[in-house]
Amino acid sequence: MSYSLHMQEQFQTHRRAEDVFDYIVDFSRIDEWDHSIVDAKKISDGLIGVGTIFDVTYKMGLRKVPIQYKVSEYEPHSKAVLVGESDNFTAIDTVTIQPKDDPDAQGCQVTWDAHIEFRGAAAKLLPLMKNKVEQAGRKTIQDLAFALDDNFALPKPSGLQKLADKLVIPGMAGFTKFGYRQAKKRWQPVTRSVKGKHIIVSGATSGLGLATALDLAARGAHLTLVARDESKGQGVVDQIKRQTGNTHIALEIADLSLMANVKALSQRLLEKGDAIDVLVNNAGALFNEYQVTSEGFEKSFALLLLSPYLLTEALHPMLVKAGNARVINVSSGGMYAKRISINNLQTKEEGYRGTGAYAMCKRGLVIMSERWAEKWASDNISVHCMHPGWAATPGVESSLPTFNRIMKYSLRSSEEGADTITWLACANEVDDATGLFWLDRVPHTTHLFNSTRENDAQRDQLEQTLEAYKLKLWQ
Ligand SMILES: NC(=O)c1ccc[n+]([C@@H]2O[C@H](COP(=O)([O-])OP(=O)(O)OC[C@H]3O[C@@H](n4cnc5c(N)ncnc54)[C@H](OP(=O)(O)O)[C@@H]3O)[C@@H](O)[C@H]2O)c1
Repeated sequence: MSYSLHMQEQFQTHRRAEDVFDYIVDFSRIDEWDHSIVDAKKISDGLIGVGTIFDVTYKMGLRKVPIQYKVSEYEPHSKAVLVGESDNFTAIDTVTIQPKDDPDAQGCQVTWDAHIEFRGAAAKLLPLMKNKVEQAGRKTIQDLAFALDDNFALPKPSGLQKLADKLVIPGMAGFTKFGYRQAKKRWQPVTRSVKGKHIIVSGATSGLGLATALDLAARGAHLTLVARDESKGQGVVDQIKRQTGNTHIALEIADLSLMANVKALSQRLLEKGDAIDVLVNNAGALFNEYQVTSEGFEKSFALLLLSPYLLTEALHPMLVKAGNARVINVSSGGMYAKRISINNLQTKEEGYRGTGAYAMCKRGLVIMSERWAEKWASDNISVHCMHPGWAATPGVESSLPTFNRIMKYSLRSSEEGADTITWLACANEVDDATGLFWLDRVPHTTHLFNSTRENDAQRDQLEQTLEAYKLKLWQ
């Protein structure tokens, strides 16, 4: 026995046909606007086109129903057909994008045609539920239109979240995967296109940087990945090209703990002359053993503070050139434990603790993000600092093995940790922000304890100290 249902819905949007088409047909993002979908991913390699497969999980009451969608027709920016197969039904979704009736009007018209063939028990139930199913279908298309309006306010911390931060332990519970899941319930769709935007990601060969690069490449950004190991970097470039079909993935080699490498890297990028829409300073590591680089710097300071400082300062002209650029600095919740100590930016060997040195430099990065945000607002450069929560990455596994073992079931995935990086790089509403410290797409306080607060003079001193290094190293 079978039962068919046919529905057609239409709406108009001010958005460009190309962006609308790309967003809708990428069913890996369908859960942003179809609230019955609890999980969605693209499982085939390459650009989206005929043959692309998405695994989607649909929630029906308490049951989770897997559906596999395959693109069967694909006419760029005008029409796509996706066929979804599950145990109980086959859905044929046809999306057509047309110019608006008024030829002078901007945007396009979207027509969604759904033909669903139910089988077995579902076919028996459907005649009783037809009205409800149709109502749900209409609501879903309204939610899609709302997503494409892309008119979301910048998220603000709730009273409960401010209280959780104040009470410290509840705030830190938010760093886990449970915090991520809770926060996700309030997120809005990200429909702005970053296709063709030039984005630099440092530390893209592993963990959060790799997850960020994969996501941004899937959205069509032109990436420059910075890696220290050429063959690992090339492997990642090949992986990203294969998985996403995006061929605009460049590789730059630099050991970012060495300032001569940072200088050479920035000179190469300046010589290329490509505007930088987004710079993601993500590369980092926690050094349990005291180490000094061949240039004489304590290694945490070199990699986690001096390096992103020098790179960002050097690339300022390319950020200005973009017209509306964003800098995203990846700090850490660990910085909550430290106050900046200007005379001890390079932690001494005696009494060295890797976590302390790491936290101090990540604190410095938070302060510098705020400074740049003030300084560069008139250049149309916004500067954002974030922390990813606690994510299971190769870096955490090797530098914090005990923490990694104890927290195994609470750690986020790399993708979950990287989410706020890609959101800061892409979301429309982020245009209204600068100088904030983000976790899970919500700004958070930069101090949990009064004892870590620095005063204006100390902030000035930090900037002057880093500036002095710049003058000395780069003259
Ligand atoms: N995971 C977390 O829970 C967590 C929490 C707070 C903050 N963070 C921050 O998030 C960022 C990413 O960390 P992750 O957890 O994703 O660690 P990860 O898996 O170890 O990745 C770190 C990346 O940085 C690169 N890198 C390290 N040293 C470098 C150097 N000298 N020159 C150039 N690149 C270098 C690594 O390159 P290789 O592949 O060659 O090693 C790798 O691509 C770091 O800034 C970290 O401090 C992470």
